[in-house]
Amino acid sequence: MTDVAVLKRQAAERAVAYVEPGMVVGLGEGSTAAFAVRRIAQLLREGKLQGILGVPCSCNVEAQARELGIPLTTLEEHPAIDLTIDGADEVDPGLNMIKGGGGALLREKIVAQASRREVIAVDESKLSPALGTHWPVPVEVVPFGWRVQAAYLESLGAKPVLRLADDGAPFVTDQGNLILDCNFGPIPDPAQLALRLKARPGIVEHGLFLGLATEVIVAGVNGIRYIKRET
Ligand code: A5P
Repeated sequence: MTDVAVLKRQAAERAVAYVEPGMVVGLGEGSTAAFAVRRIAQLLREGKLQGILGVPCSCNVEAQARELGIPLTTLEEHPAIDLTIDGADEVDPGLNMIKGGGGALLREKIVAQASRREVIAVDESKLSPALGTHWPVPVEVVPFGWRVQAAYLESLGAKPVLRLADDGAPFVTDQGNLILDCNFGPIPDPAQLALRLKARPGIVEHGLFLGLATEVIVAGVNGIRYIKRET
């Protein structure tokens, strides 16, 4: 395992310590969240955790959780999630985030907004002074007229790139949409940008997760830090 993977695992496993018997748990997408899913499955197998129900943030994690024997539910059956464990691509000092590197931003945001606690597990490389410094903002757009959205995003100062899958074809989200990865550089006012993105027909969702993380667990070479959002 790489050094970064070790840190991701440490952060994810620390987050799992907050999972209690009987909880409805949001299962995030990405390599960090996958460590949490594996840990939850292990605790269930060993009888150290009982009665939890998972709400997966993607088809991919749904398949992983099923394979590992984690009981699943849906937001229709359980519209209130006790605690979600997810990763992030970039986290600023106010615990705002860029997410969607795995392409699951829409479901991740729906699950996050339904969660009493959104616990984000990251390795320390994800910390950033300003969103956009290290990572583009993924913007999910409907396939119809997507080039029009790309032009709009350019007018906002981005350099949008259509995300491709491993086979070179356009990446298609679980909702059947496309993703434009938008390099804005450091974003001075993420809330203002989020408003502009949300107001645009054809843009389904974006990867700016503002005010959604309640806690962030950061694993670094000098140990693990727990940061709680000021309320
Ligand atoms: C998935 O769509 C993302 O939001 C992930 O949570 C994010 O990309 C972090 O991924 P890793 O845990 O693989 O770094």
